[in-house]
Parts: sequence; structure tokens; C-alpha cells
Amino acid sequence: MLTPAITAQPVLEFAADVRDGLTKPQKELLSKYLYDDVGSALFEVISVLPEYGLTRADERVLQRNGYDIVERLSLPLVVAELGSGSGKKTRWLLKALARRQHTAYCPIEISPTALAMCKRELGDMDSISIVGFEREYLDGLAEVAARRKSNQHLLVLFLGSTIGNFDRPAGMQFLRDIRGTLLPGDSLLLGTDLLKPIPQLLEAYADPLGVTAAFNKNLLARINHDLGADFELPYFEHVARFNNQARSVEMHLMSKREQTVTIPGAGFSVRFVEGETIWTESSHKYSKDEVFQMAGDSGFRCEAQWIDTEWPFAESLLVAH
Ligand code: TRP
Repeated sequence: MLTPAITAQPVLEFAADVRDGLTKPQKELLSKYLYDDVGSALFEVISVLPEYGLTRADERVLQRNGYDIVERLSLPLVVAELGSGSGKKTRWLLKALARRQHTAYCPIEISPTALAMCKRELGDMDSISIVGFEREYLDGLAEVAARRKSNQHLLVLFLGSTIGNFDRPAGMQFLRDIRGTLLPGDSLLLGTDLLKPIPQLLEAYADPLGVTAAFNKNLLARINHDLGADFELPYFEHVARFNNQARSVEMHLMSKREQTVTIPGAGFSVRFVEGETIWTESSHKYSKDEVFQMAGDSGFRCEAQWIDTEWPFAESLLVAH
């Protein structure tokens, strides 16, 4: 059963975040706002695009190694997933776990649509009970941690490449924050996309069909819809760039001409010069050794790592000590 929805993002907070972001010298919008109903549905399409190998790699690793991963865990445990999305790839892990114990699975999502999809996707599994939390990651995790029984370990899933959406220092801080809610012996299964040739990375984030462009521009449509703004979508272009220093793919929305946009719901107007961008997301890429280092620096030990052979992507098992 899903817990009753707790609205995590009132419009006022959205308005304040839009205002903060668009008044910075490098304009930006927080990537969490990409995932409204339309955005979440478009991301599901991105994940099946031929150019975006990441989600399939993640799923293959879990499908092929689910039993091996579960073998290494101390039971009994409760599973909390940060950002479950549709929950499709989690099935492989839950399936392996269900053979060993009845499992409480707690997806933590800011998107009610994703939570509903996840429940639909996994609701048929025997020996799995789903308790959804419509919360920000760390709030939800603290709640799951507080509810577990004293003999239960916690397994946190942070799959896909969401850690990569933080810059490196913030990613480290996030790992430390997760560690702070865990007890020794609890674990974190962490997905990281690995460095690969730049043209391949850029195609993954600027597909020829334009789905990623639609996903990114939907954020402007959302501001129009929720805050009464007048962004003209045809005058913005989706751009993906590789940042060599940060080792990240950056997503931007570039203004194709000089223009002023009014955002009544946030009480301001914003001017763009031609070529100016709004930065919406960065996706950092790692080496497999770097993950061991990050684990060690945040109070974990990396016990094992599984890497996809077709699309370099790692799933790493970090144990809290
Ligand atoms: N954040 C995910 C990633 O780094 C999802 C994503 C794919 C994404 N394409 C995007 C986010 C384009 C923003 C813009 O892979």
C-alpha cells in the first residue's frame, strides 16, 4: 500500500526557486523540477532510446547479478529506494530478495506519478510489500530508518545515475548524509555512469529524435503552466555540452534570440541575450576506482562492483562501517 501523498513542493517554493535560479549570473533551474507528470513520462521514453544506454545498462547489471548482490547482504533487511522511477529495474533485486525473506520495499519519490507507476509495476510480486513515500530523498530515508525494527538492516538503493546529478563535492556530501542515517552493517547499492567517449555521451543527452530536448523544454512549459509565464518554447534550444574539468555532461536551454520573459507567479521578468543559457542539469561521469575512493571517504567500504560490458556503468555495493 502507498502511504497517503504528502505534497512536498507547493507552488510558492517552486516560484521562489525559479526566481533564485533565473536571477543568477549563469541562469539555472533545479533539475528536480524536470519531473512533473509530463517530464516523468518523457524520461521513461528517454530510457528506451537507442542512444541512451544508461538505463538498460543499469537494468542488465541488476538482472544478471541480482542473486550475487543479494548473497552479500545481511538479512533481514528493509529496502529503501531513492528515486524509484517506474521501479522496473528494481524488480530483479526484489525478485532475488523475495527468495530469502518477505521484504518491505519503500520507494522514496517526489513524483506521485512515478510512485504510482512503481506500485503498478511491482505490485504483483509475492513476498514484497510496497510502502511509498512522497518525499525528498533524505527526509524519506530518515523516516524509513526510524520505522525499521531493531533487528532489521537497511539496504538503500540509489540506482541510475542520480548521484551524477550532483557535482563532486555535493555528491560526497550526499553520500555522507546517507551514511549519517545508517547503522554499521547497513548498505547502499550505488549506480554510477562511467566515463566513455565524448561523442557517445553527447548523443545520449541530445538524441536525434528530440525527446531529451522535449524533456528539458518541458521545464519551461511547466513554468508557463504553474506560474503563468510566457516562455516561447520555439525560441529556446536544448544543448548538451561536455565539461572536461567537471567530467560532466551539462544540459542547457539556450535562448535563440534576445527576449524578455514575464513570470507573474514568481513576480518578476527575466531578460535573455542571444546565446545565453539556462543550465538545467549536469550528469557527472566516474571511473570505477573513483567509486571505491568516494565510498572510503564517506564512511563506507566498497565491497563489490558489477560493471556492464556493453555500456560502461557500475553498480557498487557500499557497506557502512
Ligand atoms: N539525470 C539523468 C542522467 O543524468 C537523467 C537525464 C537523462 C537527464 N537525460 C537528461 C536530465 C537530460 C536532464 C536533461 O542521465
